[in-house]
Amino acid sequence: MKSAKITVVGAGNVGATAAFMASQKALGDIVLLDIVEGLAEGKALDMAQVKAVYPAGGAVTGTGDWQDATGSDVVIITSGLARRPGMSRDDLLAKNAQIVKSVTEQVVRTSPNAFIIVVSNPLDVMTYVAAKVSGFDKRRVVGMAGALDSARFACFIAQELGVYAGDVRGVLMGGHGDDMVPLPRYTTVAGIPLTELMPAEKIDTLVDRSRKGGIEIVNLLGTSAYYAPAAGAVAMAEAILKNTRQVMSCCAYCDGPYGIHGEFVGVPVMLGSSGVESILELALTETEQAMFEASASHVRELTRKVDAMLA
Ligand code: LAC
Repeated sequence: MKSAKITVVGAGNVGATAAFMASQKALGDIVLLDIVEGLAEGKALDMAQVKAVYPAGGAVTGTGDWQDATGSDVVIITSGLARRPGMSRDDLLAKNAQIVKSVTEQVVRTSPNAFIIVVSNPLDVMTYVAAKVSGFDKRRVVGMAGALDSARFACFIAQELGVYAGDVRGVLMGGHGDDMVPLPRYTTVAGIPLTELMPAEKIDTLVDRSRKGGIEIVNLLGTSAYYAPAAGAVAMAEAILKNTRQVMSCCAYCDGPYGIHGEFVGVPVMLGSSGVESILELALTETEQAMFEASASHVRELTRKVDAMLA
């Protein structure tokens, strides 16, 4: 079988970590691409040397040349500025929209059949930009946010209960912003509803911490998180390439479910060989639906702004 080709655009913290994780998981041949001369090449060379220590893993090629990305099955877009302390994800809109637009044009030129996984912020709007500029079937364009945000929620729950984090399935919807909507009612620990295991006030604290999970790390590091964001993107690539049909929250094109019409927003989806195979429509309480709509309307407002910028 021909091995899969995965291009990671942007050899910064998220991109390099994603390339490394994908190679350790032997997901395929990986191209790490960056316009900064030497950056992708240097990191790829470093990764190649890991193979002498841990022999498993796919090859990583570092390059600045889009020709090397030709025929990719999956392209992970991490390009763009990252947040610094005091910045919201929305503050990145204008710069990153231009960057994601020009990267997407190169993806269309070199890999017209690829799946696109967007990681750049503000996430939901950048996913919209990639979909709009590429004109690809919308099931092939997804954004990585829910995988990260639900991992954060799950991590905090696991730490609080002292259980294995892999047993916690955090469910979360909405845009990748402070108004994202964690859903404790659908969150489980080894199949047991979280609401059975923790008092409501404690859950509220963890929900709040998850919403602010990105900025907590920005304030500690001076820049954005990258290990868990990279893991989220690689998990999505794996689900698509191996057709696992795994259910996870992603930023996906939603037209009908949850009363959303023709927009990209975080919803639980099943990922497989067509990309978004289906959107799972959970029954929401009035309060949850209202929170989701508030989050979606924030995304909508930014989408309008970006449309005006790209017009
Ligand atoms: C975060 C960035 C990646 O949430 O948006 O850490």
